[in-house]
Amino acid sequence: MTDLFSPIKLGDIALSNRIVMSSLTRNRAGAGNAPTDLVAEYYGQRSSAGLILTEASPICPEGHGYPRTPGIHSREQIEGWKKVTKAVHDAGGKIAIQLWHVGRISHPDLQPNGALPVAPSAIRPEGQAITYSGMKDYVTPRALETIEIKALAGTYAKAAENAMEAGFDGIEVHAGNGYLLDQFLRSSTNRRTDEYGGSRENRARFLLEVLDSVCSKIGNGKVGIRLSPVTVFNDISDEDPQGTFEYVVNEINRFDLAFLDLLQGTGGAPQDQWLPFDYDRLRAIYKGNLILNNGYDYDSAAREVASGKADAIAFGRLLLANPDLVERFRRGASLNAPDYERLYSGEEKGYTDYPFLAA
Ligand code: PHB
Repeated sequence: MTDLFSPIKLGDIALSNRIVMSSLTRNRAGAGNAPTDLVAEYYGQRSSAGLILTEASPICPEGHGYPRTPGIHSREQIEGWKKVTKAVHDAGGKIAIQLWHVGRISHPDLQPNGALPVAPSAIRPEGQAITYSGMKDYVTPRALETIEIKALAGTYAKAAENAMEAGFDGIEVHAGNGYLLDQFLRSSTNRRTDEYGGSRENRARFLLEVLDSVCSKIGNGKVGIRLSPVTVFNDISDEDPQGTFEYVVNEINRFDLAFLDLLQGTGGAPQDQWLPFDYDRLRAIYKGNLILNNGYDYDSAAREVASGKADAIAFGRLLLANPDLVERFRRGASLNAPDYERLYSGEEKGYTDYPFLAA
């Protein structure tokens, strides 16, 4: 029987177990939004996971929407990430970077020259941005020109190339959680009338062009994708999520990607609050390796892998608080609780100071 501790190959990436670290924003980047030695220590501590997916990492200056998120678009950032990949590889782990563009989930304070954030359509999200000077209402973004969308697919590929230079084993295209690519996919945020809006075929076009561009640059076996069909995070929705995402998954089959990382429901929300969606149908449509995510513990994760519902399981909070989660699972040991006060601040506190099991 397949268990969480059995190895698996996701495209070109060979994992020693099926316990994946989910992408988690931690806001500890240093000067120039570059990863520091502390960031390298944090990921290095977690390298017994079969695969680490890094925190979401902007592909260009316009892709930033939060303070101190590490990018993958400058020399300084590439050099910073080299320390991270080295720490993980020295400890025998694997690591892929999550490529991010926040789209409208930003604020002029966080944009080059105080410009408006960009999005498929000029629709303001409800809520507030976290800026360097406190919370500020989101603004109405500027709708991208058609020609800019085509150029952005190339920006993703350049970031993927930067990731290879930084030593990553792969990349994950972040197409979930109400950020730019999801804003194109879902009907509530995409009112375009060109070939990138309207029908689900048109709403999926940008994502498919990004995958094409990234796969041509670094090879499909190093590329994964994150989708979150029904998350309500960042004020987003779709009039027919089942239809939209069955279409998307059918189309991404042709790329033969390393994995699909599927966030069920809304990140962090308990299962009884998830909007309805038939994940088994996506599993049946998708031909590649599937990582399921959101709220799993050892027993529920082991069940999904044993039954074949998933090939691997991603853990966020559990790996955040338990750098040696794999060993704790093996031993059936007790788990540290996350320090929720220090998720997004605190430097080393609540970051690299979670205790390991005694040897
Ligand atoms: C966040 O910074 O809150 C965040 C970033 C990326 C996600 C989800 C949440 O996918």
